[in-house]
Amino acid sequence: MTKTISDCLAPYQRANLIQLPVIIHRLPRVSLQFGLEIYVLRDDLTGFGLGGNKTRKLDFLLGDALVRKATAVVTTKATSFSRNAAAGAAACGLKFHVVLPGTESDQNPLSRAVFAKWGARCHYEPDNRTALDNRLQSVIASLRDQAEEVYVLHPGGSDAVGALSYVRVFDEIRQYSEQTGVHFSHILHSTSSAGTQAGLVVGQCLARSETQVLGISASRSRPEQFELVHELAQSTARLLGKQVDPDKIIIDDGFVGPGYACASREGEAASQIFAELEGILLDPVYTGKAAAALLSYSKDKLLGSGPVLFIHTGGNAGLYY
Ligand SMILES: Cc1ncc(COP(=O)(O)O)c(C=O)c1O
Repeated sequence: MTKTISDCLAPYQRANLIQLPVIIHRLPRVSLQFGLEIYVLRDDLTGFGLGGNKTRKLDFLLGDALVRKATAVVTTKATSFSRNAAAGAAACGLKFHVVLPGTESDQNPLSRAVFAKWGARCHYEPDNRTALDNRLQSVIASLRDQAEEVYVLHPGGSDAVGALSYVRVFDEIRQYSEQTGVHFSHILHSTSSAGTQAGLVVGQCLARSETQVLGISASRSRPEQFELVHELAQSTARLLGKQVDPDKIIIDDGFVGPGYACASREGEAASQIFAELEGILLDPVYTGKAAAALLSYSKDKLLGSGPVLFIHTGGNAGLYY
């Protein structure tokens, strides 16, 4: 008998950071204006810490850390993921250390304040990338000297274990469709460190679903982003003893705008439409760009007759710091 997605994921413990069931709802005014049934999956409301797709990944990553009897969690580089990780570690009773590039005064005061609230130990490394990696290794070594069992989180949470969370999201969408009769022709979302798309594509392959997953690049060119997603999707599928079909990885790099972490004009306009018509806030550098793609495709009738699901991957904290 073929294994279901939940059978495949059963051996992986979660840290139970996510409020379930998933929230999916229709966007009535955006649908009317753009002439297509558009729904949103509210992973901005995952219900813990600062929410978003990072909390999804941490649910599996910290579950894995607990199985491995970790006592301390360490990560580096990705500041926004690290803030969520600090909250998750606190909720799991784990010590949390992060090695951040730059100096303490480079950090926004609000960001510093939330790290402090969640009891994170921040180590700053002003020098280059090699120095940052060396500093990470020395923090890990020093914790091990203190008899801590250290679990290292990949920056952004985008390794195979983190990506399992979006295999699960694909299954949650499938269950929603079964219950409501709303079957999505496309799922569209922002892609950057690749965990979200890799997980969704593996879920799609496991479910043998016809729904297309469209990743809207926040920064990289299509070939670079494809490579990143493909590699991670392969390692995620391997973890489950499965294979992934590279033809299912669809990436559009036409909405990157001025580049990584920079807002685009189209993204700002799409964010304004979501805010004004639906009361939903998007961030300018990830979800705003993905929404720009969604609205542009809808206008140009590139999404067939739908319905289409937009994944709100969070990032609202980026509006404040
Ligand atoms: C709000 C938001 N959406 C989407 C993404 C992209 O997801 P992924 O890194 O899993 O590709 C990120 C990544 O940092 C993000 O912060």
